[in-house]
Amino acid sequence: MYSSSIFEGNLDVEPQRAPIGIFDSGVGGLTVLQQLYRQLPNESIIYFGDTARLPYGIRSQAEILQFVREILDWMQQQRVKMVIMACNTSSALALEVVRQEYSIPILGVILPGAKAAVQQGKRIGVIATPATAKSNAYRQAILEIEPDVQVWQVSCPEFVPLIEQNRIHDPYTTEVARAYLEPLLKQEIDTLVYGCTHYPHLAPILRSLLSPQIKLVDPAVHVVAACAQDLELLALRNNHPPLPTRFAVSGCPQQFAQSGLQWLGYTPLVEQVCFTDIAVSQLQQGSVGH
Ligand code: DGL
Repeated sequence: MYSSSIFEGNLDVEPQRAPIGIFDSGVGGLTVLQQLYRQLPNESIIYFGDTARLPYGIRSQAEILQFVREILDWMQQQRVKMVIMACNTSSALALEVVRQEYSIPILGVILPGAKAAVQQGKRIGVIATPATAKSNAYRQAILEIEPDVQVWQVSCPEFVPLIEQNRIHDPYTTEVARAYLEPLLKQEIDTLVYGCTHYPHLAPILRSLLSPQIKLVDPAVHVVAACAQDLELLALRNNHPPLPTRFAVSGCPQQFAQSGLQWLGYTPLVEQVCFTDIAVSQLQQGSVGH
């Protein structure tokens, strides 16, 4: 069940004042949200976490496409001015397709992450969800920009469930991380890319297992820099004070609010969104999402 009341005021506002929509399967996108707060403090933001259907990283491309279309339809109803896919799995499996289907500008994390990685080193490791690693999206993006580097990708299926269960400081998580990093350390990587927006939450653990010379690349920093540039180009930057961030999830709002406290430092107010209601209201309004 979702209520559109909070943002109804948004229907008549000038386009600059419209919010930026960002989404992820769960708390991973909060790493992108923090960058938005840092780099674009005037922007109003709507955050959506598809917590009822996480983890995305073990889903098929058809499933991810369906989820992403549902989220974008909803974002469109909320009249966002731009969307950031704060999720590598969606960026790898769905971005190119949905960009053809929606008129709203949509940014993904992989290209900004790849561009940043080639500026850092020549032996690049990528840790990612199984779906992102299998898609080869990072390898392709990196080698297209700079064919003269080497890329190794490792699939890390256990990370997202451990992070969502808030088991960051569980010794088991360190053991799992050690095992995932081992093949990359054997290749003597000089750069490691967080190929999943959840993983910067593991920074203290990963840093403790890596030598200080290895540079960590967080695509969240770079996608938000790209977003700032695009807003400027499209004359969509907001210069007014922002509205409070609106949070919505498909799963349990209380659970997300609790995790929010840990990662954001405050307990967010969280709504629940039910996509079947959205489909019905779209049918009634005769609107088409894609
Ligand atoms: N945080 C997302 C990503 O960057 C999704 C992780 C998941 O749900 O598996 O890939």
